[in-house]
Amino acid sequence: MKEKNQNWARNKAILIHDETADWFATQYDKTHDHFSSSFSYGRKQINNYLFKEVLKLPKGAKILDIGCGTGHYLEQLINYGFDVTGIEPSEKMRKHAESKLPKGTVVNGSVLNLPFKDNSFDFIFAIEVFRYLNNEDNLCGFKEILRVLKPGGLFFGTFLNFYALDGFNILVAIRQLKERWFGKPLRCYTEFETPQRLEKKLICAGFSKIQMHGATIAPLMIIYRISRPLGKICAKILEPIDPQLSDISAFRSFAVHLIAVAQK
Ligand SMILES: C[S@@+](CC[C@H](N)C(=O)[O-])C[C@H]1O[C@@H](n2cnc3c(N)ncnc32)[C@H](O)[C@@H]1O
Repeated sequence: MKEKNQNWARNKAILIHDETADWFATQYDKTHDHFSSSFSYGRKQINNYLFKEVLKLPKGAKILDIGCGTGHYLEQLINYGFDVTGIEPSEKMRKHAESKLPKGTVVNGSVLNLPFKDNSFDFIFAIEVFRYLNNEDNLCGFKEILRVLKPGGLFFGTFLNFYALDGFNILVAIRQLKERWFGKPLRCYTEFETPQRLEKKLICAGFSKIQMHGATIAPLMIIYRISRPLGKICAKILEPIDPQLSDISAFRSFAVHLIAVAQK
């Protein structure tokens, strides 16, 4: 049963992105205005942390984007002069990525079995990927990342906070009940973390020097759904204080995005 659920989660993680690849591409087209949606706002907050780490790397550093989706990040990193590779199991997502990147930049494959030699990359990141895989697969993925990272190399990952103020865990619980009671199938698996649990998992996998960050403290997803103009106003008010607020350790568990930076 456990194995069936694990395979179901793995397959759905790819299928749902075959179905939503065009939506992701459209969202990224709008990210120049990072107040346009809760997606754009959240990515801006993640990017602040991601680029803070990436821009410390020397030109030509080898970077791997796991679950690279439409290739949005790879396109930017190439322009900074990094040697980038993406791995992406969804064919539809890959097509988007391949249309904007040099041939061979993106390969088909999974974080569970990375098609690269040991000690290959200086920096590896996975944005909104591990949330679709169960606990065992998260651990397996962390071990694969450690294997292909160079000694001293960094892993940057984003995760879903169980106690996020946007109440996404409640929405997922309602969807699970709908499946049980009305047979409405779940579209994908959702793995939640707390900062403490995630830190333990990363240590258990073999990472060290782990830093945790929170990003996006307010329930903007709900506010944008109620009213887009209201969402924009709230996001604009929040932005100047969000990075500090979300990252206070007592508040970190309530931020929408939980970010981990860990060293091999
Ligand atoms: C929410 S999307 C995020 C895409 C991209 N990282 C971004 O931030 O735009 C999650 C991505 O993870 C990919 N994915 C699903 N299962 C995966 C696996 N086992 N290994 C690597 N990537 C996976 C999906 O196909 C999808 O492109």
